[in-house]
Formats: sequence, C-alpha cells, structure tokens
Amino acid sequence: MEQQGDYFIIKAKENGVHVIGLTRGQDTRFHHTEKLDKGEVMIAQFTEHTSAVKVRGKAIIMTKFGNVETEQ
Ligand code: TRP
Repeated sequence: MEQQGDYFIIKAKENGVHVIGLTRGQDTRFHHTEKLDKGEVMIAQFTEHTSAVKVRGKAIIMTKFGNVETEQ
C-alpha cells in the first residue's frame, strides 16, 4: 500500500534540533531521529512508514497549512 504524502520543510534555528519520525500503523514509535544544526534544512515527506513527525528545538516548520515555529 502506497502512503506517500505531503512534503514539509524543517529549518533549524539553533544547533541540535531533532526531527523525529514516528511510525504509521498500530503502534506509534520513533523510527528515525535526524539532528539538524543551525541553518540546516530538511525536506521530508509523510510516507508509508512515517505518519507523524516531532520536532524538538528551535525551528521553523513549513507545511501546506502554513509555517509554524517551535517556541523556546
Ligand atoms: N524511511 C523513512 C520513510 O520512508 C524516511 C522518512 C520519511 C523520515 N519522512 C521522514 C524520517 C520524516 C524522519 C522524519 O518513512
């Protein structure tokens, strides 16, 4: 089953921002952690394996719904 979804962009505003991918399906667990340093940008997609993403640290997240900033 293909569950390719929307793209989103995360731009780190400090060193050590974590982008954590959570699994799709019955159990929701972390499956990947990506560490971004200040100014680094990650372009990612919701997929068959990833249904949610958690961002830890100061960052801007851009989605089709608009931009959102983490607070800190
Ligand atoms: N292998 C993962 C997947 O295909 C890679 C991935 C996609 C990912 N989107 C992500 C990892 C978001 C972390 C955050 O689902």
